[in-house]
Amino acid sequence: MQVLIRANYEEMSKEAARYVSSEMRKKVKFVLGLATGSTPLGLYKELIRMHKEEGLDFENVTTFNLDEYYGLSPTHEQSYSYFMWENLFKHVNIKKENVHIPDGMAKDVEKFCEEYEHMIKEAGGIDLQVLGIGSDGHIAFNEPLSSLGSRTRLKTLTQQTIEDNARFFENKDEVPRYAITMGVGTVFEAHKCILLASSHSKADVIAKAIEGPVAAYITASAMQLHRDTIVVLDEGAAAELKRKDYYRYVDKMVKEFNK
Ligand code: F6R
Repeated sequence: MQVLIRANYEEMSKEAARYVSSEMRKKVKFVLGLATGSTPLGLYKELIRMHKEEGLDFENVTTFNLDEYYGLSPTHEQSYSYFMWENLFKHVNIKKENVHIPDGMAKDVEKFCEEYEHMIKEAGGIDLQVLGIGSDGHIAFNEPLSSLGSRTRLKTLTQQTIEDNARFFENKDEVPRYAITMGVGTVFEAHKCILLASSHSKADVIAKAIEGPVAAYITASAMQLHRDTIVVLDEGAAAELKRKDYYRYVDKMVKEFNK
């Protein structure tokens, strides 16, 4: 795992965009895993800018989103489908048929989840998965005690997640109680992962996920078992890391080595 610490949210987002775009440019057909929430918004803005100004091409990109609230239709303004179209897809040349987001209105949830897993496999697996982290340590919507081998399924959200996400809804009661989410096992089958975290509110959980034990209690800690994960933080999110200086030193040494 490599940990990159950048001065602020903007620098974190630019660093992430540089990485995502350079990976995208390496392959003709690229499978990109995507996250929603506040954290990747700066990354998506920068990818849109790169598309418009630098020809970053989404024509042959296939995407899979991590999760969707259960019970929200794609036209609901707080659905993750709506979020993705508003904040990325409608601004780039992605083909609608290449976009995959769990169906929050699926009638047969189990069947849908199996199909979602199947579609990822059919696409050749996810080349690069973009991730955020919840304040309770969740990756996608894999709340505490989700099996580290879990697959796509319906999950009950914690009160903490409901409260964290209430900011997007009129009030807390409107936040869905369930979500369809890729499992921890599904997420970390991606060939590469990039996890972003910003602000002091994530400092404690980031330290637990990176420097604490691998535990189902903090599902993001499973990234320690993944062989190609990069974590990009701003100073706030990095504040509680014990080996911050070493991560900075590695960052500098890697750059020097690659000169
Ligand atoms: C969203 C997702 C979640 C978020 C996490 C952090 O698709 O999978 O794990 O990444 O809840 O959300 P923000 O970025 O809003 O703090």
